[in-house]
Amino acid sequence: MKEEKKKKKRILTGDRPTGPLHIGHYVGSLANRVKLQDEYDSFIIIADYQVLTDHLYDTKEVAQNIRELVLDYLSIGLDPKKSTFFIQSKIPEIAELTMYFSMLVTIPRLKRNPTVKEEIELAKISKKEITYGFLGYPVSQAADILVVRADLIPVGEDQLAHVEQTREIAKKFNRIFGKVFPVPKALLGDFPRLPGIDGEKMSKSRDNAIYLKDSAEEVVRKVNRAITDPDRIHPKDKGHPDICNIYQYHKAFNVLEFSDVAKQCKAGKIGCVACKKRLAEKLNDFLDPIRERRKEFESKPKIIKEVLNSGIKKTREETEETLRLVREVVHFDYKDLLSKF
Ligand code: TRP
Repeated sequence: MKEEKKKKKRILTGDRPTGPLHIGHYVGSLANRVKLQDEYDSFIIIADYQVLTDHLYDTKEVAQNIRELVLDYLSIGLDPKKSTFFIQSKIPEIAELTMYFSMLVTIPRLKRNPTVKEEIELAKISKKEITYGFLGYPVSQAADILVVRADLIPVGEDQLAHVEQTREIAKKFNRIFGKVFPVPKALLGDFPRLPGIDGEKMSKSRDNAIYLKDSAEEVVRKVNRAITDPDRIHPKDKGHPDICNIYQYHKAFNVLEFSDVAKQCKAGKIGCVACKKRLAEKLNDFLDPIRERRKEFESKPKIIKEVLNSGIKKTREETEETLRLVREVVHFDYKDLLSKF
């Protein structure tokens, strides 16, 4: 039994507890997590330290956001028997590993990371105000991944830059000290960058996201607000689905009808109002069972505590072993020095 478990490859991925998960997260990464949790030994990190990068003054909300995140996970069908959930700051080995890794990465390399650049811009802070921790968080993210020696990282497109840095760090560490880490690969979802209802990247800070926990009415309201093909004024105008946000959602959530929708739109046979109505129905069909499961778990709040406590315990068994290996190859285990005789 134990032998069998060891052979399973390992997944690590996760989220920042900054707010609820949205449908972009779902098609970018969550769907893959659910799909692969049988085949892989899966670890899901709730990255609370990362919240400090651009939400340093909003830490009061983190605990509640962690609770919401676990509810999101459970309601989309991540099964705590197969997927191990844990909180980043509760795993001290991550901080320790970050310390070693920080010596392997140059400042210019950190400054080149396009995701960090984008986040700095979005946070509306000047270059002089960027902290060491913000610029360096991809190093800590490499530790998140490598501390459980993960092989695969299901993510959306915005995380590819971090996975690339993680791979570089793993290779450099292995080259200098000996092979401790696998060189993990990213796995992109079917729609790695689903746009928000305004066409920008879907995110909480842009107020353009459709959340997994939104009510049916909220979904209808948001879909109605979405920007479609700007050149289409009358319902009979011929449309251009490829530049339409709503069409992107049809592709992701209306598998059976999206090509028909495109045909009708191009021919001016379906107007945006009718097209949005059709989409909202499909989205709500998809979200209904998720909402129902969420309600069920909300009525059993103890589950969240249990899932996190056992997840943290299980994760630490793995991370302690990794750090034991790391200290040994770095010659920081001081066996002779500290052993009793
Ligand atoms: N940076 C990720 C996000 O913003 C969250 C995250 C932290 C993560 N550590 C990770 C994702 C490790 C994948 C692997 O959503």
